Amino acid sequence: MKKTNVLLIGSGGREHAIAWKLAQSPLLDQLFIAPGNAGTNSVGTNVPINGNDFESIKLFVVEKKVHLVIVGPEEPLVRGIHDFFLNDELLKNIPVIGPQKAGAELEGSKDFAKQFMIKHGIPTGAYQTFSKDTLAEGFAFLKTLNSPYVLKADGLAAGKGVVICKTLHEAEIELTDMLANHKFGKASEMVVIEEFLDGIELSAFAITNGREYLVLPEAKDYKRIGVGDSGPNTGGMGSISPVPFAGDEFMQKVEERVIKPTVEGLRKDGIPYQGFLFFGLMNVKGDPFVIEYNVRLGDPETESIIPRIKTDLLEIFLATANGKLSTIKLETDNRTAACVMIVSGGYPGEYAKGKVISGLELANNSLVFHAGTSSIDDSIISNGGRVLAITSLADNLKTAIATSLESASQIKFENSYFRNDIGKDLIEF
Ligand code: AMP
Ligand code: GLY
Repeated sequence: MKKTNVLLIGSGGREHAIAWKLAQSPLLDQLFIAPGNAGTNSVGTNVPINGNDFESIKLFVVEKKVHLVIVGPEEPLVRGIHDFFLNDELLKNIPVIGPQKAGAELEGSKDFAKQFMIKHGIPTGAYQTFSKDTLAEGFAFLKTLNSPYVLKADGLAAGKGVVICKTLHEAEIELTDMLANHKFGKASEMVVIEEFLDGIELSAFAITNGREYLVLPEAKDYKRIGVGDSGPNTGGMGSISPVPFAGDEFMQKVEERVIKPTVEGLRKDGIPYQGFLFFGLMNVKGDPFVIEYNVRLGDPETESIIPRIKTDLLEIFLATANGKLSTIKLETDNRTAACVMIVSGGYPGEYAKGKVISGLELANNSLVFHAGTSSIDDSIISNGGRVLAITSLADNLKTAIATSLESASQIKFENSYFRNDIGKDLIEF
């Protein structure tokens, strides 16, 4: 059997979890991660290439005879890494998991995503889009809505582009800041104003090649920095999978009303799509509504869904690329995964890097995925805001959470912090 050389692009906890899983595949030959972190280097080989440096990626892929490229984060996708491969004589037959630029617009432009959802009858909140020239119309539209007001910068704004305002006055100031004062630069040249959806949020995932799709486990993410969902938004402070309030009936609705029409909509619109679909959903009284699309897996959702997938992940990727996805039946672990993120003090604001991490060997009952780490000599040091994702699997949510918290408290670096309430709101469901 011919074995596969894989290049995985990215450097976070999501990529460590994907790399950890790929490394278990009997179909794998060599696994490279660009640029990776101290954790990915323990399950594969890191290569010091930035995911947006397509020319350097090309040289590496050709030299090392890479057979398959997996793109972790959105930025290389929105910048067109997949198109770059397809337009290059040497690379065009090397499959890329991650959509081309046209499909990546589902994440790259909120206005595009909303138009797509409305066109294909996918449940989402009512909305209108405004630019600097239609600021007055934006004010008028705000007056037709009730508090709270949801304002979204159209483009990528490093996860900060959504602002929820309590009063009409705040919303008017925010809209002016975004459109007229360029608050998020180019990203807020257009702003989507959207109906507020009152419900509980969760993340659903699928992988598709534009015709077939496979639904992956869902997860709940904890976005705020503080206990009790307080303080500023982060990339995500922890995750739980499965989600107790997303039972079979609800997930069936997600597949029928959201996943299937999204894949069909892409096909009808002639948008090729090979990669992950991430549905940011609101469960509104038992019905799913889409609040956003992403074109990649979530972080830290990946760190709790990947450990629950029993099926060979490389087999799933190869089947996606070879048009055989429908032959795969996903096997999942029925246990609950709880992921707790350890971050640098000060994150999501300013924080220090380079702090020596100790106690990693003590977390024996958990999986330790590195998010922002690097190594110097024999030490592992912090190298980002989110530093480590600690995941535990157990027969029930309570035990999974307790195990991750126990492991997290054994790992130490100066000024480290983690939320001790991840998943606790879900225990009574
Ligand atoms: P997004 O970047 O689109 O995920 O939005 C960031 C956060 O804003 C989401 O995780 C939700 O908590 C919240 N949000 C976005 N859209 C809505 C909406 N229409 N109604 C209520 N909350 C929303
Ligand atoms: N955890 C949310 C995201 O990856 O966007």
